[in-house]
Amino acid sequence: MKDNILAGRSAIVTGGRRGIGRAIARAFAAAGANVTICDKAADGLLDQTAEELEKLGSHALAFQIDVSNRKEVAKMIQETNDMFGRIDILANCAGVWIPGETLVECSEENWDRVIDTNLKGTYLCCQAAAEIMIRQKKGSIINISSRVGLMPGAGAGAYPVSKAGIIMMTRQFALELASCRVRVNAIAPGIVKTDFNLQFWKDPAIERGISDMVPLGRLAEPEEIAQAALFLASDDASYITGEVLCVDGGWSPSNSLK
Ligand SMILES: NC(=O)c1ccc[n+]([C@@H]2O[C@H](COP(=O)([O-])OP(=O)(O)OC[C@H]3O[C@@H](n4cnc5c(N)ncnc54)[C@H](O)[C@@H]3O)[C@@H](O)[C@H]2O)c1
Repeated sequence: MKDNILAGRSAIVTGGRRGIGRAIARAFAAAGANVTICDKAADGLLDQTAEELEKLGSHALAFQIDVSNRKEVAKMIQETNDMFGRIDILANCAGVWIPGETLVECSEENWDRVIDTNLKGTYLCCQAAAEIMIRQKKGSIINISSRVGLMPGAGAGAYPVSKAGIIMMTRQFALELASCRVRVNAIAPGIVKTDFNLQFWKDPAIERGISDMVPLGRLAEPEEIAQAALFLASDDASYITGEVLCVDGGWSPSNSLK
């Protein structure tokens, strides 16, 4: 991919404090964008990541917000637009899952937490950013879904439902925003080596067992999801909208063949 493909652009990455969000924010900054990151957690990592983005040459903003809170989302969008004069890219990475429960057992409290963060949070951020992108007549939104948004996954409670919802939301926004030249796409990762799912890879034996189910024979690194997001954010993807890009080592296609 060409250098500086996002030069002069302004991007927002939710859940940007660590993991996939951090890798995407770094890829956008390295490609020349000014980057706003936000996260709910207050442990110093958000500011640390913002400092890393500055070192990559980006002007960076950091907001400690909850993406499921409309007012907090609106403030972040407004202040980013005021600072950078535009919002070209939104990558929705903030997400939670509560492992170890079935949908049958899922408590109302856990359902609300997962759906509010993953589905409502993505919706609120898309809606607020879209308002600005419609005025600009340009924009690219990337929503992080999951392999389990395309097929059910064991012991993941409401999580697959939230991720499937993100796929339909992506297609709906893509349809509604296409005439304003705003593209909306989703990425469906397989298992990515982040703190989110340490349980799948902290033990080499467990990691090997899961890797054996993946045609490419290994789990993903967050940077591999970031490269897909960078492509979708860039003009190289100018004719792609409403698409779900599986970045899962061939796992979903191989499953559908069974
Ligand atoms: N890691 C994987 O294997 C994997 C696979 C498929 C999809 N995903 C999705 O990718 C996204 C990023 O996952 P990750 O692995 O980087 O996880 P992560 O836990 O490392 O990062 C997610 C970030 O979102 C933040 N967050 C949670 N709730 C929030 C809220 N209400 N408001 C703002 N920020 C909030 C967390 O504090 C965290 O920093 C998530 O949406 C996840 O569902 C991850």
